[in-house]
Amino acid sequence: MHAEQPQKLVEVRGLGKMFTLHNQGGIRLPVLRAIDFDAARGECLVLSGPSGTGKSTLLRCLYGNYLATEGSIRLRDTSADGAPWVELGHASEQRVLQLRRDVIGYVSQFLRAIPRVGALDVVADPLRQRGAGEGEARARAAELLARLNLPRRLWDLPPATFSGGEQQRVNIARGLIGGHPVLLLDEPTASLDPENRAVVVALIREALAEGRALIGIFHDEAVRDAVATRLLPLHPATALA
Ligand SMILES: Nc1ncnc2c1ncn2[C@@H]1O[C@H](COP(=O)(O)OP(=O)(O)OP(=O)(O)O)[C@@H](O)[C@H]1O
Ligand SMILES: [Mg+2]
Repeated sequence: MHAEQPQKLVEVRGLGKMFTLHNQGGIRLPVLRAIDFDAARGECLVLSGPSGTGKSTLLRCLYGNYLATEGSIRLRDTSADGAPWVELGHASEQRVLQLRRDVIGYVSQFLRAIPRVGALDVVADPLRQRGAGEGEARARAAELLARLNLPRRLWDLPPATFSGGEQQRVNIARGLIGGHPVLLLDEPTASLDPENRAVVVALIREALAEGRALIGIFHDEAVRDAVATRLLPLHPATALA
């Protein structure tokens, strides 16, 4: 790693998220309140807390899917000269898409299948978008799918009909392939058997060793203990009111 590369990649201050349910008479649902944290290269920050405390919501805010209702989320644009900070709340839609291509990756809990596109191409796509050649993108995708034990007979088939665990492995490979410096993981091992869970733990550790920053949710305690460098406990927002 280059000595001048910035270490801190994510900075969250006073983050709050309140949902307003417009078709329910405008009921307001506070979910996140006063969240502060940083994430640096080589760190794996694990969000913990009971179901419904807003762990997935926090990842969606970081990915620019949800707009925070208060506070700030800043990401380093490591693809630009000087790696400037970008405030997500002020970023245009186009800027958010560029950050997703170059800076921040997201492994959602479930794969959003793309009709008619085979698994290998689903995985290779983020690397192509970053300008890699066709051969390189497909070779790297094949390498990841092989490590994740996805049977070769499935590689050219669209993942829509795959089992939960097979889809999850395609999703993980797609999330890892782009080499994004910041990676968000929402329960990436929930549907996996022990052997494949161990592969994912190894891949996560490699990503950390490469100097990427990970923010994730892992319900499996063994996985969490194997990858976490820090825990961020979330509490029900209403309890803080
Ligand atoms: N788009 C939305 N509109 C309204 N409420 C939402 C929305 N997204 C999430 N919520 C609410 O926010 C709260 C937190 O949801 P979230 O999915 O972030 O929880 P979680 O901590 O990830 O839970 P789990 O461990 O069960 O996955 C829930 O009460 C949920 O109903
Ligand atoms: Mg969740």
